[in-house]
Amino acid sequence: MDIARLDLSDGQTFAQGFPHAFFTWLREHEPLYWHEPTAVTPDGEGFWVVSRYADVDSVIMDPQAFSSDKGGARTAGGTTIKDELSAGKVMNQTDDPLHKRLRAIVNEGFSVRAISALEAELRRRTRALLAGLTRGEHIDFALRVAREIPTQAICIVLGVPEEDRLTLADWIDHGIAAPSDEVIAEEYVRKVRRYAQGLIEAKRAAPQPDIFSTIVHARFAADGSTLSDHELRSFFGLLFPAGAETTTRAISGGLLSFMQAPAQWARLQNDPALMRTAVEEIVRWTTPSCYKRRTATRDLSFAGKRIREGDKVTFWEMSANRDERMFERPFEFDIARNPNKHLGFGAGVHFCLGSSLARLELRVVFEELLASRLGFEAAGTPQWMPNNRLVGLKSLPVRVV
Ligand code: HEM
Repeated sequence: MDIARLDLSDGQTFAQGFPHAFFTWLREHEPLYWHEPTAVTPDGEGFWVVSRYADVDSVIMDPQAFSSDKGGARTAGGTTIKDELSAGKVMNQTDDPLHKRLRAIVNEGFSVRAISALEAELRRRTRALLAGLTRGEHIDFALRVAREIPTQAICIVLGVPEEDRLTLADWIDHGIAAPSDEVIAEEYVRKVRRYAQGLIEAKRAAPQPDIFSTIVHARFAADGSTLSDHELRSFFGLLFPAGAETTTRAISGGLLSFMQAPAQWARLQNDPALMRTAVEEIVRWTTPSCYKRRTATRDLSFAGKRIREGDKVTFWEMSANRDERMFERPFEFDIARNPNKHLGFGAGVHFCLGSSLARLELRVVFEELLASRLGFEAAGTPQWMPNNRLVGLKSLPVRVV
Protein backbone atom coordinates (compact mmCIF):
# COMPACT_ATOMS: atom_id res chain seq x y z
CA MET A 1 0.00 0.00 0.00
CA ASP A 2 1.23 3.51 -0.75
CA ILE A 3 -0.18 6.67 0.71
CA ALA A 4 -0.59 10.25 -0.49
CA ARG A 5 2.51 12.15 0.53
CA LEU A 6 1.36 15.18 2.45
CA ASP A 7 3.04 18.56 2.43
CA LEU A 8 4.14 18.93 6.04
CA SER A 9 5.37 22.47 5.48
CA ASP A 10 1.82 23.64 4.73
CA GLY A 11 -0.30 24.67 7.72
CA GLN A 12 -3.43 23.56 5.85
CA THR A 13 -2.27 19.93 6.14
CA PHE A 14 -3.03 20.30 9.87
CA ALA A 15 -6.37 22.09 9.48
CA GLN A 16 -8.33 18.91 10.32
CA GLY A 17 -6.01 17.93 13.15
CA PHE A 18 -2.71 16.09 13.10
CA PRO A 19 -2.35 13.77 10.06
CA HIS A 20 -1.91 10.58 12.09
CA ALA A 21 -2.59 8.16 9.21
CA PHE A 22 0.36 9.53 7.23
CA PHE A 23 2.71 9.28 10.21
CA THR A 24 1.59 5.76 11.05
CA TRP A 25 2.51 4.88 7.45
CA LEU A 26 5.87 6.68 7.75
CA ARG A 27 6.77 4.89 11.00
CA GLU A 28 6.08 1.58 9.31
CA HIS A 29 7.53 2.17 5.83
CA GLU A 30 9.91 5.17 5.84
CA PRO A 31 10.99 6.02 9.37
CA LEU A 32 13.56 8.43 7.95
CA TYR A 33 11.70 10.13 5.13
CA TRP A 34 13.08 12.75 2.75
CA HIS A 35 10.46 15.46 2.28
CA GLU A 36 10.96 17.02 -1.14
CA PRO A 37 10.74 20.79 -1.53
CA THR A 38 7.22 21.87 -2.48
CA ALA A 39 5.58 25.07 -3.63
CA VAL A 40 5.27 26.24 -0.03
CA THR A 41 8.42 24.66 1.37
CA PRO A 42 10.21 27.49 3.14
CA ASP A 43 13.58 28.34 1.58
CA GLY A 44 12.85 25.95 -1.31
CA GLU A 45 14.69 23.17 0.50
CA GLY A 46 13.71 19.63 1.40
CA PHE A 47 14.05 18.20 4.89
CA TRP A 48 14.23 14.89 6.72
CA VAL A 49 11.23 13.63 8.71
CA VAL A 50 11.96 11.42 11.74
CA SER A 51 8.85 9.66 13.03
CA ARG A 52 9.72 6.70 15.31
CA TYR A 53 10.08 7.21 19.06
CA ALA A 54 13.59 5.73 19.32
CA ASP A 55 14.88 7.83 16.41
CA VAL A 56 13.25 11.05 17.68
CA ASP A 57 14.86 10.40 21.05
CA SER A 58 18.28 9.86 19.41
CA VAL A 59 18.07 13.18 17.56
CA ILE A 60 16.97 15.17 20.64
CA MET A 61 19.66 13.61 22.83
CA ASP A 62 22.53 14.38 20.44
CA PRO A 63 22.78 18.17 20.19
CA GLN A 64 26.38 17.93 18.93
CA ALA A 65 25.22 16.18 15.76
CA PHE A 66 21.83 17.91 15.54
CA SER A 67 22.13 21.62 16.27
CA SER A 68 19.32 23.98 17.33
CA ASP A 69 21.45 26.91 16.24
CA LYS A 70 23.59 26.34 13.17
CA GLY A 71 22.28 26.12 9.67
CA GLY A 72 25.14 24.11 8.16
CA ALA A 73 26.53 25.99 5.18
CA ARG A 74 24.20 28.87 5.88
CA THR A 75 24.35 31.16 8.87
CA ALA A 76 20.85 30.66 10.24
CA GLY A 77 19.29 27.48 11.62
CA GLY A 78 16.43 27.39 14.08
CA THR A 79 13.79 25.05 15.40
CA THR A 80 11.18 25.34 12.64
CA ILE A 81 11.36 24.02 9.06
CA LYS A 82 12.07 27.55 7.97
CA ASP A 83 15.44 29.08 8.86
CA GLU A 84 15.02 31.88 11.34
CA LEU A 85 16.95 35.07 11.91
CA SER A 86 16.68 34.42 15.64
CA ALA A 87 18.77 31.24 15.31
CA GLY A 88 21.82 31.48 17.53
CA LYS A 89 20.24 34.23 19.64
CA VAL A 90 17.05 32.99 21.31
CA MET A 91 17.43 30.31 23.98
CA ASN A 92 15.55 27.53 22.20
CA GLN A 93 17.60 28.23 19.07
CA THR A 94 21.03 28.10 20.63
CA ASP A 95 23.43 25.31 21.53
CA ASP A 96 25.55 25.00 24.66
CA PRO A 97 27.47 26.80 26.05
CA LEU A 98 25.37 29.89 25.19
CA HIS A 99 22.15 27.93 25.70
CA LYS A 100 23.25 26.90 29.17
CA ARG A 101 24.04 30.50 30.15
CA LEU A 102 20.65 31.77 28.93
CA ARG A 103 18.80 28.92 30.58
CA ALA A 104 20.56 29.54 33.90
CA ILE A 105 18.91 32.98 34.06
CA VAL A 106 15.40 31.51 33.98
CA ASN A 107 15.74 28.00 35.44
CA GLU A 108 15.15 28.96 39.06
CA GLY A 109 12.02 30.99 38.27
CA PHE A 110 10.44 27.96 36.57
CA SER A 111 11.52 25.36 39.14
CA VAL A 112 8.90 23.09 40.72
CA ARG A 113 9.33 25.01 43.99
CA ALA A 114 8.84 28.45 42.45
CA ILE A 115 5.90 27.31 40.37
CA SER A 116 4.08 25.53 43.22
CA ALA A 117 3.74 28.91 44.91
CA LEU A 118 1.23 29.81 42.18
CA GLU A 119 -1.16 26.94 42.88
CA ALA A 120 -3.56 28.69 45.27
CA GLU A 121 -3.87 31.74 43.03
CA LEU A 122 -4.43 29.68 39.86
CA ARG A 123 -7.03 27.58 41.67
CA ARG A 124 -8.86 30.68 42.87
CA ARG A 125 -8.91 32.09 39.33
CA THR A 126 -10.05 28.79 37.80
CA ARG A 127 -12.91 28.51 40.31
CA ALA A 128 -14.03 32.05 39.53
CA LEU A 129 -13.87 31.32 35.81
CA LEU A 130 -15.96 28.15 36.10
CA ALA A 131 -18.42 29.82 38.49
CA GLY A 132 -19.14 32.27 35.66
CA LEU A 133 -20.51 29.46 33.44
CA THR A 134 -24.24 28.76 33.42
CA ARG A 135 -25.83 25.40 32.63
CA GLY A 136 -27.52 25.50 29.23
CA GLU A 137 -25.25 28.20 27.81
CA HIS A 138 -23.23 27.72 24.62
CA ILE A 139 -19.58 28.67 24.83
CA ASP A 140 -16.38 28.27 22.89
CA PHE A 141 -14.43 26.28 25.47
CA ALA A 142 -11.14 26.99 23.70
CA LEU A 143 -11.50 30.75 24.17
CA ARG A 144 -13.65 31.06 27.27
CA VAL A 145 -11.87 28.50 29.46
CA ALA A 146 -8.80 26.85 27.92
CA ARG A 147 -6.86 29.95 27.04
CA GLU A 148 -7.66 31.91 30.19
CA ILE A 149 -5.59 30.11 32.81
CA PRO A 150 -2.37 29.70 30.76
CA THR A 151 -2.39 33.34 29.66
CA GLN A 152 -3.18 34.55 33.18
CA ALA A 153 -0.44 32.31 34.58
CA ILE A 154 2.25 33.45 32.16
CA CYS A 155 1.26 37.08 32.82
CA ILE A 156 1.81 36.54 36.55
CA VAL A 157 5.11 34.74 35.99
CA LEU A 158 6.52 37.33 33.56
CA GLY A 159 4.97 40.36 35.24
CA VAL A 160 2.74 41.37 32.30
CA PRO A 161 -0.16 43.62 33.35
CA GLU A 162 -3.41 41.59 33.42
CA GLU A 163 -5.30 44.00 31.18
CA ASP A 164 -2.89 43.35 28.29
CA ARG A 165 -3.16 39.59 28.30
CA LEU A 166 -5.98 39.03 25.80
CA THR A 167 -4.62 41.55 23.30
CA LEU A 168 -1.25 39.83 23.48
CA ALA A 169 -2.82 36.37 23.17
CA ASP A 170 -4.75 37.59 20.09
CA TRP A 171 -1.61 38.97 18.45
CA ILE A 172 0.19 35.73 19.12
CA ASP A 173 -2.72 33.65 17.77
CA HIS A 174 -2.62 35.69 14.56
CA GLY A 175 1.15 35.45 14.31
CA ILE A 176 1.02 31.69 14.66
CA ALA A 177 -2.27 30.92 12.93
CA ALA A 178 -1.44 32.69 9.69
CA PRO A 179 1.77 30.94 8.67
CA SER A 180 0.67 30.77 5.04
CA ASP A 181 0.38 34.55 5.02
CA GLU A 182 3.82 35.67 6.04
CA VAL A 183 2.99 39.37 5.79
CA ILE A 184 0.12 39.15 8.30
CA ALA A 185 2.11 36.87 10.61
CA GLU A 186 5.09 39.25 10.56
CA GLU A 187 2.88 42.22 11.37
CA TYR A 188 1.64 40.53 14.55
CA VAL A 189 5.10 39.39 15.54
CA ARG A 190 6.20 43.05 15.23
CA LYS A 191 3.35 44.12 17.52
CA VAL A 192 4.48 41.63 20.16
CA ARG A 193 8.06 42.89 19.89
CA ARG A 194 6.98 46.51 20.23
CA TYR A 195 4.97 45.56 23.30
CA ALA A 196 8.00 43.76 24.71
CA GLN A 197 10.14 46.89 24.29
CA GLY A 198 7.72 48.87 26.49
CA LEU A 199 7.80 46.13 29.10
CA ILE A 200 11.63 46.05 29.08
CA GLU A 201 11.74 49.77 29.77
CA ALA A 202 9.20 49.45 32.59
CA LYS A 203 11.11 46.57 34.24
CA ARG A 204 14.42 48.35 33.81
CA ALA A 205 13.10 51.44 35.57
CA ALA A 206 11.24 49.57 38.32
CA PRO A 207 12.08 45.87 38.72
CA GLN A 208 9.34 43.69 40.22
CA PRO A 209 9.51 40.17 41.68
CA ASP A 210 8.80 38.55 38.32
CA ILE A 211 10.85 36.53 35.84
CA PHE A 212 10.99 39.17 33.14
CA SER A 213 12.51 41.66 35.61
CA THR A 214 15.07 38.96 36.48
CA ILE A 215 15.91 38.51 32.80
CA VAL A 216 16.17 42.26 32.13
CA HIS A 217 18.59 42.74 35.06
CA ALA A 218 20.55 39.47 34.68
CA ARG A 219 24.32 39.83 34.30
CA PHE A 220 26.57 37.19 32.80
CA ALA A 221 29.18 36.15 35.33
CA ALA A 222 31.99 36.15 32.72
CA ASP A 223 31.90 39.86 31.80
CA GLY A 224 29.05 41.42 33.78
CA SER A 225 27.15 42.24 30.59
CA THR A 226 23.36 42.26 30.37
CA LEU A 227 21.20 41.08 27.47
CA SER A 228 20.65 43.63 24.69
CA ASP A 229 17.18 45.02 23.97
CA HIS A 230 17.02 42.84 20.89
CA GLU A 231 17.84 39.72 22.93
CA LEU A 232 15.30 40.71 25.58
CA ARG A 233 12.54 41.24 23.01
CA SER A 234 13.31 37.82 21.58
CA PHE A 235 13.26 36.23 25.05
CA PHE A 236 9.81 37.68 25.63
CA GLY A 237 8.76 36.55 22.14
CA LEU A 238 9.76 33.01 23.15
CA LEU A 239 8.40 32.89 26.70
CA PHE A 240 4.96 34.45 26.29
CA PRO A 241 3.73 32.23 23.44
CA ALA A 242 5.53 29.15 24.78
CA GLY A 243 3.67 29.67 28.06
CA ALA A 244 0.29 30.75 26.73
CA GLU A 245 -0.29 28.79 23.55
CA THR A 246 0.90 25.27 24.29
CA THR A 247 -0.98 24.69 27.54
CA THR A 248 -4.11 26.27 26.05
CA ARG A 249 -4.05 23.60 23.32
CA ALA A 250 -3.46 20.86 25.91
CA ILE A 251 -6.47 21.99 27.98
CA SER A 252 -8.91 22.24 25.07
CA GLY A 253 -7.54 19.06 23.49
CA GLY A 254 -7.80 17.36 26.90
CA LEU A 255 -11.46 18.31 27.25
CA LEU A 256 -12.19 17.07 23.73
CA SER A 257 -10.53 13.73 24.54
CA PHE A 258 -12.73 13.35 27.62
CA MET A 259 -15.83 14.26 25.58
CA GLN A 260 -14.88 11.58 23.06
CA ALA A 261 -14.07 9.03 25.80
CA PRO A 262 -16.67 9.73 28.55
CA ALA A 263 -15.75 6.49 30.34
CA GLN A 264 -12.35 8.06 31.10
CA TRP A 265 -14.02 11.11 32.65
CA ALA A 266 -16.23 8.85 34.80
CA ARG A 267 -13.12 6.93 35.83
CA LEU A 268 -11.40 10.13 36.94
CA GLN A 269 -14.49 11.21 38.88
CA ASN A 270 -14.47 7.88 40.71
CA ASP A 271 -10.74 7.96 41.34
CA PRO A 272 -9.31 11.51 41.39
CA ALA A 273 -5.94 10.06 42.44
CA LEU A 274 -5.52 9.24 38.74
CA MET A 275 -5.04 12.97 38.03
CA ARG A 276 -1.24 12.72 37.88
CA THR A 277 -1.22 10.05 35.18
CA ALA A 278 -4.20 11.74 33.47
CA VAL A 279 -2.18 14.95 33.06
CA GLU A 280 0.69 13.04 31.42
CA GLU A 281 -1.77 11.26 29.13
CA ILE A 282 -3.32 14.58 28.09
CA VAL A 283 0.14 15.86 27.14
CA ARG A 284 0.97 12.64 25.23
CA TRP A 285 -2.41 12.62 23.49
CA THR A 286 -2.47 16.30 22.48
CA THR A 287 1.30 16.91 21.99
CA PRO A 288 0.67 20.59 21.18
CA SER A 289 4.30 21.22 20.26
CA CYS A 290 4.20 18.54 17.57
CA TYR A 291 7.59 18.79 15.85
CA LYS A 292 10.98 20.47 16.08
CA ARG A 293 13.78 20.84 13.64
CA ARG A 294 17.55 20.63 14.02
CA THR A 295 20.39 20.96 11.50
CA ALA A 296 22.96 18.19 10.98
CA THR A 297 26.44 19.46 11.88
CA ARG A 298 28.22 16.68 9.97
CA ASP A 299 27.63 13.83 7.55
CA LEU A 300 26.22 10.81 9.39
CA SER A 301 24.42 7.50 8.98
CA PHE A 302 20.99 7.47 10.53
CA ALA A 303 18.21 4.87 10.32
CA GLY A 304 20.01 3.25 7.40
CA LYS A 305 20.40 6.42 5.33
CA ARG A 306 23.00 9.19 4.83
CA ILE A 307 22.26 12.57 6.34
CA ARG A 308 24.58 15.33 5.03
CA GLU A 309 26.06 18.24 6.95
CA GLY A 310 23.65 21.18 6.77
CA ASP A 311 20.54 19.04 6.13
CA LYS A 312 17.42 20.05 7.97
CA VAL A 313 16.16 17.28 10.23
CA THR A 314 12.62 17.53 11.60
CA PHE A 315 11.50 15.18 14.35
CA TRP A 316 7.88 14.70 15.26
CA GLU A 317 7.11 14.30 18.94
CA MET A 318 3.43 13.70 18.14
CA SER A 319 4.37 10.74 15.97
CA ALA A 320 6.81 9.42 18.60
CA ASN A 321 4.00 9.66 21.16
CA ARG A 322 1.82 7.36 19.03
CA ASP A 323 4.56 4.90 18.16
CA GLU A 324 3.26 1.38 18.58
CA ARG A 325 6.87 0.24 19.21
CA MET A 326 6.92 2.29 22.42
CA PHE A 327 3.34 2.49 23.69
CA GLU A 328 0.75 -0.23 24.08
CA ARG A 329 -2.52 0.75 22.38
CA PRO A 330 -1.07 4.17 21.43
CA PHE A 331 -4.34 5.37 19.88
CA GLU A 332 -6.28 4.79 23.10
CA PHE A 333 -6.64 7.72 25.50
CA ASP A 334 -5.95 5.99 28.83
CA ILE A 335 -5.74 8.24 31.89
CA ALA A 336 -4.08 5.52 33.97
CA ARG A 337 -1.31 4.87 31.42
CA ASN A 338 1.83 3.98 33.34
CA PRO A 339 4.64 4.01 32.33
CA ASN A 340 4.12 6.93 29.98
CA LYS A 341 7.52 8.18 28.82
CA HIS A 342 6.05 10.56 26.27
CA LEU A 343 8.14 13.20 24.49
CA GLY A 344 5.46 15.90 24.71
CA PHE A 345 7.85 18.16 26.63
CA GLY A 346 10.88 17.14 24.57
CA ALA A 347 14.00 15.75 26.27
CA GLY A 348 17.65 16.54 26.86
CA VAL A 349 19.14 20.02 27.18
CA HIS A 350 16.13 21.81 25.67
CA PHE A 351 13.62 19.89 27.83
CA CYS A 352 10.61 22.16 28.30
CA LEU A 353 11.41 24.97 30.70
CA GLY A 354 7.73 25.38 31.58
CA SER A 355 6.83 21.72 32.18
CA SER A 356 6.15 22.26 35.91
CA LEU A 357 3.94 25.23 35.14
CA ALA A 358 2.08 23.35 32.39
CA ARG A 359 1.56 20.32 34.64
CA LEU A 360 0.30 22.52 37.46
CA GLU A 361 -2.14 24.35 35.19
CA LEU A 362 -3.48 21.12 33.72
CA ARG A 363 -3.91 19.56 37.14
CA VAL A 364 -5.66 22.60 38.63
CA VAL A 365 -7.98 23.12 35.65
CA PHE A 366 -9.06 19.47 35.45
CA GLU A 367 -9.39 19.16 39.25
CA GLU A 368 -11.62 22.22 39.29
CA LEU A 369 -13.63 20.97 36.33
CA LEU A 370 -14.21 17.74 38.27
CA ALA A 371 -15.17 19.63 41.41
CA SER A 372 -17.54 21.94 39.52
CA ARG A 373 -19.67 18.97 38.41
CA LEU A 374 -20.25 20.81 35.13
CA GLY A 375 -20.56 18.75 31.98
CA PHE A 376 -19.88 19.74 28.38
CA GLU A 377 -21.70 18.50 25.27
CA ALA A 378 -20.56 19.07 21.70
CA ALA A 379 -22.42 22.02 20.17
CA GLY A 380 -20.69 22.29 16.81
CA THR A 381 -17.64 21.06 14.97
CA PRO A 382 -14.28 21.64 16.65
CA GLN A 383 -11.94 23.75 14.48
CA TRP A 384 -8.20 23.09 14.36
CA MET A 385 -5.50 25.69 13.87
CA PRO A 386 -4.11 25.46 10.32
CA ASN A 387 -0.63 25.24 11.75
CA ASN A 388 2.24 22.79 11.84
CA ARG A 389 4.18 24.38 14.72
CA LEU A 390 1.50 24.08 17.33
CA VAL A 391 -1.20 21.55 16.73
CA GLY A 392 -4.47 22.15 18.50
CA LEU A 393 -7.97 23.52 18.60
CA LYS A 394 -8.79 27.06 17.63
CA SER A 395 -12.42 26.58 18.61
CA LEU A 396 -14.34 24.00 20.67
CA PRO A 397 -18.07 24.84 20.71
CA VAL A 398 -19.84 23.20 23.65
CA ARG A 399 -23.06 23.43 25.65
CA VAL A 400 -22.58 23.56 29.41
CA VAL A 401 -24.75 20.94 31.14
C1 HEM B 1 1.53 21.46 27.58
C2 HEM B 1 2.31 22.50 27.47
C3 HEM B 1 3.69 22.51 26.86
C4 HEM B 1 4.25 21.68 25.93
C5 HEM B 1 3.58 20.50 25.23
C6 HEM B 1 5.61 22.15 25.70
C7 HEM B 1 6.51 21.52 24.85
C8 HEM B 1 7.86 21.85 24.74
C9 HEM B 1 8.84 21.11 23.97
C10 HEM B 1 8.55 19.85 23.16
C11 HEM B 1 10.04 21.73 24.10
C12 HEM B 1 11.39 21.29 23.51
C13 HEM B 1 11.88 22.22 22.43
C14 HEM B 1 13.08 21.69 21.68
O1 HEM B 1 13.49 20.52 21.89
O2 HEM B 1 13.62 22.43 20.84
C15 HEM B 1 9.81 22.89 24.94
C16 HEM B 1 10.77 23.81 25.28
C17 HEM B 1 10.46 24.98 25.91
N1 HEM B 1 9.29 25.30 26.58
FE1 HEM B 1 7.61 24.22 26.62
N2 HEM B 1 5.84 23.25 26.46
C18 HEM B 1 4.70 23.50 27.19
C19 HEM B 1 4.52 24.51 28.12
C20 HEM B 1 5.42 25.50 28.36
C21 HEM B 1 5.22 26.60 29.26
C22 HEM B 1 3.99 26.80 30.17
C23 HEM B 1 6.31 27.39 29.18
C24 HEM B 1 6.51 28.64 29.98
C25 HEM B 1 7.21 29.67 29.63
C26 HEM B 1 7.24 26.78 28.21
C27 HEM B 1 8.47 27.26 27.82
C28 HEM B 1 9.40 26.57 27.08
C29 HEM B 1 10.72 27.10 26.75
C30 HEM B 1 11.24 28.47 27.10
C31 HEM B 1 11.38 26.11 26.01
C32 HEM B 1 12.80 26.16 25.44
C33 HEM B 1 13.74 25.50 26.42
C34 HEM B 1 15.16 25.48 25.95
O3 HEM B 1 15.45 25.71 24.76
O4 HEM B 1 16.04 25.22 26.79
N3 HEM B 1 6.65 25.63 27.75
N4 HEM B 1 8.47 22.93 25.32
